[in-house]
Amino acid sequence: MTVRIFIPRDAAALALGAENVAMAIAQEIAARGLDATIVRNGSRGMHWLEPLVEVETDGGRIAYGPVKKGDVASLFDAGFANGGEHPLCRGKTDEIPFLRQQTRLTFARCGVTDPLSLSDYRAHDGLRGLQNAIAMDPAAIVAQVTESGLRGRGGAGFPTGIKWKTVLEAAGDRKYIVCNADEGDSGTFADRMIMEGDPFVLIEGMAIAGVATGATKGYVYTRSEYPHAIAVMEQAIEIARANGVLGPSVLGSKHAFDMEVRTGAGAYVCGEETALLNSLEGKRGLVRAKPPLPAHKGLFDCPTVINNVISLASVPIVMDKGAAFYRDFGVGRSRGTIPIQIAGNVKHGGLYEAAFGLSLGEIVDGIGGGTASGRPVKAVQVGGPLGAYFPRALFDTPFDYEAFAAKDGLIGHAGIVVFDDSVDMLHQARFAMEFCAVESCGKCTPCRIGSTRGVETADRIAQGIEPEKNRELLADLCNTMKYGSLCALGGFTPYPVLSAMNHFPEDFSPATVVQAAE
Ligand SMILES: Cc1cc2nc3c(=O)[nH]c(=O)nc-3n(C[C@H](O)[C@H](O)[C@H](O)COP(=O)(O)O)c2cc1C
Ligand code: SF4
Repeated sequence: MTVRIFIPRDAAALALGAENVAMAIAQEIAARGLDATIVRNGSRGMHWLEPLVEVETDGGRIAYGPVKKGDVASLFDAGFANGGEHPLCRGKTDEIPFLRQQTRLTFARCGVTDPLSLSDYRAHDGLRGLQNAIAMDPAAIVAQVTESGLRGRGGAGFPTGIKWKTVLEAAGDRKYIVCNADEGDSGTFADRMIMEGDPFVLIEGMAIAGVATGATKGYVYTRSEYPHAIAVMEQAIEIARANGVLGPSVLGSKHAFDMEVRTGAGAYVCGEETALLNSLEGKRGLVRAKPPLPAHKGLFDCPTVINNVISLASVPIVMDKGAAFYRDFGVGRSRGTIPIQIAGNVKHGGLYEAAFGLSLGEIVDGIGGGTASGRPVKAVQVGGPLGAYFPRALFDTPFDYEAFAAKDGLIGHAGIVVFDDSVDMLHQARFAMEFCAVESCGKCTPCRIGSTRGVETADRIAQGIEPEKNRELLADLCNTMKYGSLCALGGFTPYPVLSAMNHFPEDFSPATVVQAAE
């Protein structure tokens, strides 16, 4: 029987040498005359083990990693094509604790299947959600998504079903589904992993959204920094079209839906939904004032659903297994699962999908294993560049939209960036202001001007110039930005700045500053 060897083509694995490993494995197969084939899969999300090579055996898939090109000959010598012992052997993939303890709903197939095999997708429960949806009334689909409790995974946590209902009920000859795949948040990669590792689940989710709202055209808006994701998505769309999943009659139904990928230049603000729409229309990525909501007047002034990749990719399981199945996971008003992305100075970085409710400490210390440097964790930033810094004292906070908001933080796109005790929080606060100044679209004054004044004020504190007065000024500035900005770029920049000041006041005191300067 032909042995199947899985080598990820995910961008993280490629960055760590997966292409060279694949070539070396192909050479060894040929040189040794083995009956083996290579499958280029997505990533399992255990970044410290990438490139993670797997071999299919009668007893399940066996993992080896991190594999370098130079390890390949010794792996074959050890009989790895049959799951043989080797220092890089991690045992059965499914039993690696990081993977075993997860609840993989949205990422169930990522790293498991061949991303571009529609038959593999079907064999792993793919298209069941869409099949159910085309047999239903649009309002019933919307109701099922609403009842599942699914909330937008792009950052704002808005209920997905309510957004779809608004578009369903909006009048319009043309309606659109726009997938926000800009993924600008620091330390996040879930969208990219889905697009590279299981593109059909996103296509299925978007087709369901189209059937549910009456939209016939979809766009995936992503960034030029994601060339691998773009290539995989484009191929997957062609395959879906050739097999009648997309096109004038979705899975043979009366519904038409087609889609394409559009690439932006990677401006952070183009992830904001209205700036994204402008960019998609070929205009400058300037934020639009709301109302009108995109659900009423979005792309080309037509009713438009804008959802994050993970929101859309979570819909097929809801439509397959039912609203109650999905809603039963989670806590409070945070239902279902969330793909947590653990990054920064951390030992076991990667993607961990779990029901809402794990504590921050469990994620950082338990799952992440603490820092990669071995030094104590000082702070973690949750929710991207606009997210708050959490000190150890808040590590009992459950991963849940409301619990984070209650601690003046946000979950955002569920990225966690870990810092050890060498981090200077005044520097991080300055960086937040600088980031805002660089990325501001320039439309409103508190953000455009305030962020630059914020950088100058942080610099004065660092130089020990009237520190108390400048700390007050920085807090006042944050207040103005928070309440006076048109969108969350200016409005949320105060979160990292104020959390750094409030939780780590010692880094903002002249004594520390003078010592650091010495
Ligand atoms: C400055 C800024 C950047 C954003 N970047 C992204 C992004 O990269 N991806 C994303 O899905 N949402 C991003 N958002 C949130 C979107 O505006 C919007 O809420 C989201 O696409 C809605 O989809 P959801 O309901 O599925 O989360 C950003 C918001 C702001 C203010
Ligand atoms: S807050 Fe900043 S990014 Fe948002 S509209 Fe105002 S200037 Fe543009």
